[in-house]
Amino acid sequence: MELEPVVEKNLNRHLSVAKEWFPHEYVPWSEGRTFDGPLGGDAWSESDSKLPEIARTALVVNLLTEDNLPSYHRQIATLFGPDGAWGTWVGRWTAEEGRHGTAIRDYLTVTRAVDPVALERARMTHMTEGYSNNHDDEILHTLAYVSFQELATRISHRNTGKVTGDPTCEALLAKVAADENLHMVFYRNLLAAAFELAPGQAMRAVADVLADFQMPGAGIEGFARKSVAIALAGIYDLRQHRDEVVVPVLRQWDVFNLGGLDADGEIAREQVAAHLDTLERQASRFEERRAARAARRAATS
Ligand SMILES: [Fe+2]
Ligand SMILES: [Fe+2]
Repeated sequence: MELEPVVEKNLNRHLSVAKEWFPHEYVPWSEGRTFDGPLGGDAWSESDSKLPEIARTALVVNLLTEDNLPSYHRQIATLFGPDGAWGTWVGRWTAEEGRHGTAIRDYLTVTRAVDPVALERARMTHMTEGYSNNHDDEILHTLAYVSFQELATRISHRNTGKVTGDPTCEALLAKVAADENLHMVFYRNLLAAAFELAPGQAMRAVADVLADFQMPGAGIEGFARKSVAIALAGIYDLRQHRDEVVVPVLRQWDVFNLGGLDADGEIAREQVAAHLDTLERQASRFEERRAARAARRAATS
């Protein structure tokens, strides 16, 4: 309730800067062909796809992540409630997210970029599993999580677009990424207000969320293998996670300078600093391993 005026202000801000766009304009419909099954068209085959394998992997992970929207909706609808600006935001955000899965699926199906049967089976499994995280019932934790997660998703979509080598797909994913960026700004601004109202609690939320941060698609079958491939391709890796997601958001909240922390808030801030150091070591190690792997590959080819 204390954040409600901030929600209203940022909802209005969001509505004034969000630009309407139309997913159907980014799908090359005339390339489409009827599939096998009741309509007797052609079955999908590997040779239909014009996209590099890594682009297909990333697109499927991104799409399955978007597909799980009902779970995310349930989570924030329960937490934010149906009333006032909070409720309006839940509806608006859900409507914007809804076009991401629709648009990407239309593109992949029309261009025969991925196996539609495997995709549908993966969707069924993933959505049946649903999504939850460790802090489902805590508002500040949720606001902290989505601040990082929306930015992570923005980067992942944008870099996936780049590796497709298809300007149409890249343009589509740039539109999706622009949506994710505005979502990040909304949530980040809310948590910034929480830092003013209750700095210790906000810092605790940030520390807890960073400590066990996982991408929302972590429950996808084969996610570990897929996320390594995505990291090796530079679409989303630990360096980007640290330097392009975590650090910029923390800087916006000015976490290392702000005052007014209670004892637990101070402990939480130290945990955030230690986490950044750990991420730095992990990111450097990953970059070294990736460079060594590339050198080995160059030597053998
Ligand atoms: Fe999305
Ligand atoms: Fe989003």
